[in-house]
Formats: sequence, structure tokens, C-alpha cells
Amino acid sequence: RGLRVADKGFLNTAVIESSITYIDGDNGVLRYRGYPIEQLAARSSFLEVSYLLIYGALPSGSQLSHFTSEVLLHGPIHSDAEGFFRAFRYDAHPMAMLTSAFSYLGSYYGEANPSLQGQDLFTKAAKGDAVALQNMDRQIFRMIGKATTLAAMAYRIRQGRDFVVPPTGMSYTESFLYQLDHLSPTDQLSGPQSYKPHPVLAKALDILFILHADHEMNASSTTVLQTGSSLPDPFSAVAAGCASLYGPLHGGANEAVIRMLLSIGSPKNVPAFLEAVKKREKVLSGFGHRVYKTSDPRSFIIRKVADEVFAVTGRDPLLDTAMALHDAALKDEYFVSRKLAPNVDFWSGLIYRAMGFPMDFFPVLFVVPRVVGWVAHWRQMMLSPSGVKIWRPRQIYVGPSTRDYVPLEERT
Ligand code: CMC
Repeated sequence: RGLRVADKGFLNTAVIESSITYIDGDNGVLRYRGYPIEQLAARSSFLEVSYLLIYGALPSGSQLSHFTSEVLLHGPIHSDAEGFFRAFRYDAHPMAMLTSAFSYLGSYYGEANPSLQGQDLFTKAAKGDAVALQNMDRQIFRMIGKATTLAAMAYRIRQGRDFVVPPTGMSYTESFLYQLDHLSPTDQLSGPQSYKPHPVLAKALDILFILHADHEMNASSTTVLQTGSSLPDPFSAVAAGCASLYGPLHGGANEAVIRMLLSIGSPKNVPAFLEAVKKREKVLSGFGHRVYKTSDPRSFIIRKVADEVFAVTGRDPLLDTAMALHDAALKDEYFVSRKLAPNVDFWSGLIYRAMGFPMDFFPVLFVVPRVVGWVAHWRQMMLSPSGVKIWRPRQIYVGPSTRDYVPLEERT
């Protein structure tokens, strides 16, 4: 009643008031809680940025060490989870495993489930209930802490390798790299039996994690809130976020960029590829954004990180094709007139590839840091003084008006 036009794709619908992330898409500005992304990428660390996104202020020294130890303490996972991962087919996409794994994880924590504990389990934290707030934060530590563990399990199962228990005494990103590549005693691989993350690569991954930690109401964060608004446990909401992020228009774009560059093959084939894009036979993955109508500010930072990584790993020949494509598209009227510029995913896949990650693992490398943004938005919504309202949009019905049922034998 009263609805005339559907806002397809939510082009002009604000679903929430938020104080977490600010984007000015016309001027290429991105800030977390008011801090420019450039400053955070240059001077902060992933867990410090995580604290900032979740709690709204940069932590003191003791707040940061408490947060860090809580997150890392929650890294290990019940050994039964091994059976869960081993139930997947040998070639299952790691995103399929990770999406299901978050949902599976939720089944361990009845204390986080409003269906079991009462609908106000988390929302009463907004009224100052300290136990509810502690419970909420415990789930947040769990999800961030276990994100790397689940991701590493999805990675290693594909290689037929044993799982590695999260180490102690390492940063979040170092611990992740360790869990991915540490050689366990049963690995039938040559090489040293203990793995030490390369400091340049660990730092590069930490910066990439900062850049990917949040991006206001992107498709997956919206999905987490939409799902969270009916008050399931937060693990289920995060699992829904994973499913949304998996798509090639969102977090799957970094994988799609590499597949696209491989299919183009070399710089000489770039013009023909761009012609196919203009005829809408192909998509230029890693270009375009709903909010940015100029270059994504994260893409400049990533470009610099890429050079630092290539200095260690060697230069990826695909970079020549990427640069030729990038330069040609930015000069082409089709892309200029539509304000299409490189987004965060254009370069990130090249870095992940240089670091030796398989292509289908790239979206997982996006999920791990984005868990922080998801839980920050979820917490903000649960703590809303006006309470949580279920996200139930309307539609414009365009189907038939009333019709009488026709029995099967009378249908023509
Ligand atoms: N290649 C070719 N044409 C494009 C592209 C592209 N990558 N992106 C947009 N366009 C065209 C689109 O066809 C439309 O043309 P027209 O007005 O003639 O119909 C015009 O540009 C406006 O685009 P839109 O589809 O209305 O934009 P949107 O806001 O609905 O979609 C997007 C945004 C990111 C889904 C889209 O730009 C896209 O598909 N990009 C490629 C996938 C990608 O790189 N995704 C990662 C996004 S950034 C990180 C993240 O969110 O995960």
C-alpha cells in the first residue's frame, strides 16, 4: 500500500545509522571511525584496527593486549571439527567449507543462541546488562580468533595435510601464515620442519587485512545484519555473510580478476578483451564500485604493497597484462563515462598469487578480516538504544490478481 517504485539493488536506501565506516565515493575517501584508511594502513596493525572498528576508539596499551590475548586465546578449535572438514569432497571450494564451518561452529555455543537462551540474550546488553555484554564480546573474540583456524583448515584439507594447532607468541597474521604453511610431522614434504612467516609477507597481509576489515553497507555486511535482525546466533549471521561475499561481484572478484588476466594471456590481447567488455560479452573484474565513482583509495595502498611483495617473491608476469588492462581502461571513453575505476580487488589477487595462495583461496583471505567488520556492525545493531527491528523489506507485487483454482483434469 502506497509503494510505487522498488529500489532494486538498494541504490537509494539507507538501512541503518552507523558510526563505524565513512565513505565519500566521489572523492575516494575511506575512514574507519574517523581515521583515514591511509594512516591506519601505514601506522596501525590489524588487531588494533579491529578493536577500533568494534569499540569505536583506538585502544590503550592494556586494552590492546587484553583484546589481542582474548582473540588469540580463542584460536584453537575442538578436535571434532577435523571430522567436519574431512567430510567435504577433496576438491570442495574453500568458501563452501568456510561458510558451513561458521554455521557448524555456532552449534558448539548454546550460550550464544537466542533460540535457547531467550530473545533478549544480546539486546539486553543495550540496557546495561554486563553479563549480556560479556557474552556478546566472548562470541566476537571467538569468531575473530577462529576465523584464521577455520580458513587454515579449509586450506590444508585441500592439500591432504594435517591441521596445525594455532601457535603462541605470534601476531594474528603471522599465526595465520604459520597455520597455513607450517609443516606438521606427518607432512610428506621436503624442507624445514618448522615454518617462520616472512616478515615482509606477514606485514603485507596485515595491511591487506586492515584494508579489507570493513566497508560499510556492502552486500555481505548487509546480509549479516539482515540475518542478525531475526536474532539467530551470531555465527549463523556470519555464515550468511560468507555466502554473500563468495559471489564474483563481491569478494569473489579477486579470484575472478586472476581468471580474467589468465584468459587474456598477454598485454597484446587487452584491446580485444576491452571490446568484448563493451559489447557486454565479458566483465572487467576488479573495476567499478557501487559507491566509488573514482579510484578506490584502497587500490593505491594495495598497489604499493604489491611492489613490496614482488620484491620478495619475484615479479608475476601477469602484472604486465594487469597494468596494460588498467591503463587502457582508464583511458577508454566507455569506462571513463561510467566512472569505472579499479577497486580493491584489482590488485589484491596478484599479491595473493605471488604469495603462493591458490586462486580459490582468495575470497577466504577477504572473509578472515571482514569478520571484524561484520561483528562490529552486528554489535552496533544489537546495542542500538532503540532495539533491533527485523529487516523485512516490502515489494511491488506485479503478478496476476485473483484467479480461481482449476482442477488438473480441466486445465488446457
Ligand atoms: N565492467 C564493465 N562494465 C561495468 C562494470 C565492469 N566491471 N561495472 C559496471 N559496469 C557498467 C554497467 O554495465 C553499467 O553500464 P550501463 O549504465 O551502460 O548499463 C554501469 O557501468 C554502471 O554499473 P552498475 O552495474 O549499475 O553498477 P553497480 O553499482 O550495480 O555494480 C559492481 C557495482 C561492483 C557490482 C560492478 O561494478 C561490477 O560488477 N564490477 C565487477 C566486479 C567487481 O570488481 N566487484 C568487486 C567490487 S569491490 C569489492 C567488494 O565489494 O567486494
